[in-house]
Amino acid sequence: MSAKILAALGLTSNESGTYLGGGQWAATSDAGSLKPVNPATGEVIATVQASSPADYETIVQRAQEAFAVWRTVPAPRRGEAVRLCGEALRKHKDALGSLVALEMGKIKPEGDGEVQEMIDIADFAVGQSRMLYGNTMHSERPGHRMYEQWHPVGLVGIVSAFNFPVAVWAWNAFLAAICGDICIWKPSPKTPLSAIATMKICNEALKEGGFPDIFFLFNDAGSDLAQAFVDDKRVPLISFTGSTKVGRMVGERVAKRMGRSLLELGGNNAIILDKSADLKLAIPAIVFGAVGTAGQRCTTTRRLFVHSSIHDTVVDTLVKAYGQVEQKIGDPTLPTTLMGPLNSPEGVQAFLAAVEKAKAAGGTVRTGGKALTDRKGNFVLPTIVTGLDNADEVVQTETFAPILYVMPFDTLDEAIAQQNAVPQGLSSAIFTQDLKAAEQYLSAAGSDCGIANVNIGTSGAEIGGAFGGEKETGGGRESGSDAWKVYMRRQTNTINYSDALPLAQGIKFEF
Ligand code: UN1
Repeated sequence: MSAKILAALGLTSNESGTYLGGGQWAATSDAGSLKPVNPATGEVIATVQASSPADYETIVQRAQEAFAVWRTVPAPRRGEAVRLCGEALRKHKDALGSLVALEMGKIKPEGDGEVQEMIDIADFAVGQSRMLYGNTMHSERPGHRMYEQWHPVGLVGIVSAFNFPVAVWAWNAFLAAICGDICIWKPSPKTPLSAIATMKICNEALKEGGFPDIFFLFNDAGSDLAQAFVDDKRVPLISFTGSTKVGRMVGERVAKRMGRSLLELGGNNAIILDKSADLKLAIPAIVFGAVGTAGQRCTTTRRLFVHSSIHDTVVDTLVKAYGQVEQKIGDPTLPTTLMGPLNSPEGVQAFLAAVEKAKAAGGTVRTGGKALTDRKGNFVLPTIVTGLDNADEVVQTETFAPILYVMPFDTLDEAIAQQNAVPQGLSSAIFTQDLKAAEQYLSAAGSDCGIANVNIGTSGAEIGGAFGGEKETGGGRESGSDAWKVYMRRQTNTINYSDALPLAQGIKFEF
């Protein structure tokens, strides 16, 4: 199965993890290797040769050379390059979606959906390439004109996570490309094959279209190269997706060299069900939000606040729905599967540790709470825990697994306060038919998250909106809206077309 999925994308069992530009993949074989594992079986899928410090230097130098040219290419023409990548991804959607499912462990429709996000952001970026708008301002001085323009920042470093091994790269890379930047990608060591396949698809399309190299790739066997990357002054922007712990380090180190960072870190997303909630919408949204991608989205629903009057009914209905999902846990590449494995055995350990902590804190496991030890792979049961307090440490912590903590509330003020009382601030949702409740939730005194939804769940955001969150989620925004601005530097220009030199603020300086 895995050989077939690799072959469909022209990959072999021993791949170079370094794209040096010029159609050249490094021949390095002494910098260690990565061995991505099929999370459903525990078997190694292929060997990926890691990059050496010399490879990294070559990449940065070539990226700098490429930038000197790419920044002068008209933005709509840069859009054409991204359009070709989007077209190529359309052709390879099925094959790449399968590889994502195989290597990451998400189910095939979610793997395909991830590739669809890449295609969607490519389309978005093509349009955006004609809309890199700046403002014009009215000067306070006669015969003067003021405006601002947006220029590319240069080299953009993208460090992506295993859970969205290809889409998050595309969100960054396609926008950065139309902005005139050159991208260097360091993917998660758990999912290098998805990254290699993506680079092959896009770089082939660029080459056929007569475009230069704008996307580079390296893989790190340890963390030395990644750290050098974060500290590298030649890379003015680092876009990092991953844990809050590592993201904090990245943010501090990039800030130390006065670079710019875009951080997409942990979430601890909640749904509120008030007493008017339409359960035929809410229940599927909760199940998808909590169980989808086996709880490994940063937008996964981890906490559920339910009005006391419907709490027991909701828990019973969810337990039944989870029972149905349990019947469909299995190989993520099969079309009948609803929930795949966790990505790694460490993920299973973290899941089990959280369940134990939840029990120790007085929680009741209503369903799930166990790993599936009757089979190979990192399978766990989707889990619902009741009886905990929002302030309990385990509820405050993002465990990257399908555990949902359900808690009752009596007033909306109380529910909103509890929802916000966590360190993270990514996604949030309310199910209500009460207009006042919905508006209160979306007001400045409502949800404190970067994403706040009404009558849809916390996960599965569309690419058209800015994606990201507050507090320990890191504050970054990527994907839609005006997120493109982070990949550019703003320049304010004042032009004097008069014969005088009036100074601003009415200052006279005569000599
Ligand atoms: C992530 O988990 O890192 O909103 C990104 C969603 C997806 C992206 C998640 N569109 O769930």
